[in-house]
Amino acid sequence: MNKPDSHLFVIFGASGDLTKRKLVPAIYSLYVQNLLPDNFTLVGVSRSELNDSSFREKMENAINQFSQINNFSRIEQFLQKVFYISMDSTKPEDFDFLKNRLQKLRTEFKINSNTIFYLSTPPNLYSIIPHNLAAHNLNNQKDGWVRLIIEKPFGNDYDSAQNLENELIKSWDDEQIYRIDHYLGKETVQNLLVTRFSNGIFEPLWNRNYIHHVEVTSAESIGIEDRGVYYESTGALRDMIQNHLLQIVGLIAMEPPSSLDPSAIRNEILKVFQSLRPIKEEDVQKVSIRGQYIASRIKGEHVSGYREEKSVDSNSTVETYAALKFYIDNWRWGGIPFYIRTGKRLPTTVNEVVIHFKKTPHFLFSKDREVNSCNQLVLRIQPDEGILLKFGMKIPGAGFEVQTVNMDFHYSDLSVDRIPSAYERLLYDAMKGDTTLFARIEEVMAAWKFLMPVINGWKNNKKIPLYGYSAGTWGPEYADKLIEGENMSWRYPCKNLADDGVYCEL
Ligand code: BG6
Repeated sequence: MNKPDSHLFVIFGASGDLTKRKLVPAIYSLYVQNLLPDNFTLVGVSRSELNDSSFREKMENAINQFSQINNFSRIEQFLQKVFYISMDSTKPEDFDFLKNRLQKLRTEFKINSNTIFYLSTPPNLYSIIPHNLAAHNLNNQKDGWVRLIIEKPFGNDYDSAQNLENELIKSWDDEQIYRIDHYLGKETVQNLLVTRFSNGIFEPLWNRNYIHHVEVTSAESIGIEDRGVYYESTGALRDMIQNHLLQIVGLIAMEPPSSLDPSAIRNEILKVFQSLRPIKEEDVQKVSIRGQYIASRIKGEHVSGYREEKSVDSNSTVETYAALKFYIDNWRWGGIPFYIRTGKRLPTTVNEVVIHFKKTPHFLFSKDREVNSCNQLVLRIQPDEGILLKFGMKIPGAGFEVQTVNMDFHYSDLSVDRIPSAYERLLYDAMKGDTTLFARIEEVMAAWKFLMPVINGWKNNKKIPLYGYSAGTWGPEYADKLIEGENMSWRYPCKNLADDGVYCEL
């Protein structure tokens, strides 16, 4: 693969969790695979009182702990390219210092003006930092490219996202702004495109004539960990559905793009978002479920409830579970419900799409077993990445007893040593200037527009319950009621873990 142009990679928020867990390990992986340019420098920026050597030490530990690549022999060499600047990014005057230091590094490492600024800071700095950079002419592309990568959430609702965008475009061109959604960097998410468009057998079935409904699940067994402050202003709907899960829906529901050109793919995804049937505020209670985990015992151990977590209000009404039912009004999907759900402290960590096919028009065999409703294509995004097809088979012996069997492909069966991390892929793409896997502003705005009635309904209508669910269970049991149809429920890849599942209204 071609190496990107030489450049400086500057991370704002360098003492934060994302930098240590994902960004630096991903950049190290690229380095080990010789995918970084020879002239390359990584600069961490944050308020913490660190210097080059203490930052390098932290990053060394981070790589040892979080790197997915099993080659630690080049860490020392890599760290020689790593530097640190302690500054307050809300203070314009600190940017003079940043500018000087970057200039010195450019001279020392023979790097022209090419620069990536990565914002991994609290979202309230997403307009301040780009503004301060521009005020110091650090957005100028006269002598080389300058790119700005912005972490999610892009805004906290429709209006704030629009305001952020308006601020950014005062001094940055749209082509300089990379809105990252790390789900798009996951191999298995990209494989949704390949599964659909490289196999002739799926396309004829991929529509309202053969599909009964589509289910998208992103379950996590972890709670909110140390992210109380962030989560209190976010919640499950904004944290996962507005971005990651709707992007997956976009890939599942899109029309075939005319080519792999970034704009061809993004245009098709945008059309899906624009076809989402608007949810009326008065219907929010019918089409959505929200929940919050409460304390429980899992295998005899006490697990805290959300309201007991660090930095969380003891009366918080922020949802840690969200499920939605909606429709896509176009020819392919007219009348077919989509169900999406996400939650923290569920029994397992799993991300999957389930395509539920319609029953055969007339079932010839034993009516005792409901296999006929069980044709499912499960696209497992993580973990145990793969594809599973469930279909009916004759049980050997007399008569025509049918049972559901699995045809199961696991990525681990491929002879690849590892699946590259999402950040590895996306950072490399940003270094190369490839925007295919980054969200366009129109998509971000369409996703906010779609979700605003739910956000407003949950905020304004006190009658819409916030259900408590025991940590270690599959979220509010009422979520099953969202799914239309006899004997139908979500797919539960494993059982509840909590010793006693409790469901209540909070
Ligand atoms: C992040 C969310 O964007 O995605 C987190 O803010 C969530 O709350 C994470 O845990 C999940 O990512 P992954 O790659 O582990 O599925």
